[in-house]
Amino acid sequence: MLSVEDIKKSLKALNAEYAKMKTLAKEERKAFGIQLNEQRQKLQQELQAAEEAAASRKVKPIDVTAPSAPNKKIPEIKQGSKHPLMTELNRVLDIYSHMGFNIIEARQLDDEFHMFEALNFPDGHPARDGYDTFRTEEGFIPPAHTSTMQHRALVRYRDDLEKGGQIAVVIPGRVFRNEDVDATHEHTFYQCEGIFVSEDATMGQMLGVLKNLFEVYYGQDLRIKTQPGYFPFTEPSVELLIEKPKSLGGKGDGWLEMLGCGMIHPNVLKIAGIDSEKYKGFAWGGGIDRLAMLKYGLNDVRYFESGKLEFLKEF
Ligand code: DAH
Repeated sequence: MLSVEDIKKSLKALNAEYAKMKTLAKEERKAFGIQLNEQRQKLQQELQAAEEAAASRKVKPIDVTAPSAPNKKIPEIKQGSKHPLMTELNRVLDIYSHMGFNIIEARQLDDEFHMFEALNFPDGHPARDGYDTFRTEEGFIPPAHTSTMQHRALVRYRDDLEKGGQIAVVIPGRVFRNEDVDATHEHTFYQCEGIFVSEDATMGQMLGVLKNLFEVYYGQDLRIKTQPGYFPFTEPSVELLIEKPKSLGGKGDGWLEMLGCGMIHPNVLKIAGIDSEKYKGFAWGGGIDRLAMLKYGLNDVRYFESGKLEFLKEF
């Protein structure tokens, strides 16, 4: 690429050319003018690109590991801390990895195929509307749930099944929904998805995994129950409820709806190239914000994305 100086010189030379127009016959003048204007436009574009490139070269790389300088405006802040959602998410992932699950991270930009088709929502399926999806101008989808990763995880690990193994993976991720924000609804939040596939996976195993997750997380025995649910990607589909933990002031009388789950729909396995006659699977997904809110007794989900230091300093 030419330097900013060189392009500026060319522009100056070009500007001088305009003087020649006077000396030309009328017929030639027009064509000459058009030609000059085109050249000038091209040079101006090149100049802009060169200036931008030069400006970006001037930005010094940031050492993200460097200790922070004292904050002059807020001197009482000496050190940053982990966001409470990340602390809780890591606790959850820790429990899953002790149970033998692999962890893969979800994307923050996905597409129509992974959001819907691969999850057995055919074109025009009414349940598509339930997910309040955002779309970028280019037609991409910031995922409305971590289930968008199911297809990728199934494809990535399906060879393990043929070798006699299983698929056991959890997928944390940030998700986005175009809904009215209030104390219990946020446009941006975190979920964790789970998938298990084997020759003989059962709903009972799924409930065992989930009961264990919540018991370890809340540090006590808990009763669980299910109620019917509907998701195109599971059949049957249920919602899992846990008894309100005593540590949260529960007396064993209240129930909390924690996540959606079910047996993976055979179509979802088929689309991922897995023999749905031979293999069965279960999957589940639920919000991390919810878990953390319950644990800390928070009544407004909007704190998490607010960036408010008074809030963050409490953790
Ligand atoms: N993705 C669903 C939601 O956000 C939750 C869910 C339900 C995930 C059932 C699953 C599942 O994996 O099997 O509402």
